[in-house]
Amino acid sequence: MAWVLVIASLFSLWIISLCKVLLLSRIPFAKRFTQNGRAFRKRNVLLVIAHPDDESMFFTPTINFLTSKGHNVQILCLSIGDADGKGNIRKQELFQACVALKIPMQQVKTVNHPDLQDGFGKVWNHSLLAKIIEEEITSRCIDMIITFDNYGVSGHCNHCDVHHGVCKLLHGTLQRDLEVWELVSTNLLRKYSGPVDIWLSMFWAMLNSNGTMQCLVNEHSRRSFIAMAQHSSQWVWFRKLFVTLSSYTYMNTLKKVQ
Ligand SMILES: *[C@@H]1O[C@H](CO)[C@@H](O)[C@H](O)[C@H]1NC(C)=O
Ligand SMILES: *[C@@H]1O[C@H](CO)[C@@H](O)[C@H](O)[C@H]1NC(C)=O
Ligand SMILES: [Zn+2]
Repeated sequence: MAWVLVIASLFSLWIISLCKVLLLSRIPFAKRFTQNGRAFRKRNVLLVIAHPDDESMFFTPTINFLTSKGHNVQILCLSIGDADGKGNIRKQELFQACVALKIPMQQVKTVNHPDLQDGFGKVWNHSLLAKIIEEEITSRCIDMIITFDNYGVSGHCNHCDVHHGVCKLLHGTLQRDLEVWELVSTNLLRKYSGPVDIWLSMFWAMLNSNGTMQCLVNEHSRRSFIAMAQHSSQWVWFRKLFVTLSSYTYMNTLKKVQ
């Protein structure tokens, strides 16, 4: 009997949290993000990821927030995800997913560099990453970068290297005014709690009331599933389960990199 109660409570908690997410996505919640207290300014945002599908698996709340507010979102994907020899297919899937996420194809760039190939245990040169990212932000007049934090959500070394590459650029010789935000990695329990994580995410964002931590709620959760489904070569049962259970489908907590 007890376990029926537990399951019923968990189910209720899930539904209540999902309602909270849907409610929050309809009110202007993260006003300060992208605005700095001033009037509306259209930002040129570069999302820097390691593999095709990172954008759909982890960053859709952020992408949906930015595109719905009229910001210009561009994606730089630093590999074509060729670990299984499917690189060319995955590159096309990235373009299709971006169409689902309302990002025009010409604003999506993939890099296929011999020293930056997809794989566990493949170390990516941080200076090389910084150089490639710098070229991109200069040619596209980028004023904001969003990327992984130093754990990279799943702990994949390519994600971590991308983070270090961006930091190297930020703390290096860069002369331009650039804002960098990282996607906060959460522990396993929070990561797979789906919409339930909204309570903790909101709490953390509120603690940092000076605006250095922002919780962005997904305004179009369905769009995240549609985007992920474009990655046909990756769209297997355990990824479907991941996208449903992952809190990253429902919200993103971003932290400003100082
Ligand atoms: C890393 O990349 C930089 C810039 O392309 C290059 O000068 C340097 O030699 C590389 N380092 C290693 C260890 O390959
Ligand atoms: C913002 O608040 C957090 C926590 O209260 C603090 O760690 C951080 O240094 C603050 N940042 C700025 C820029 O004041
Ligand atoms: Zn990845």
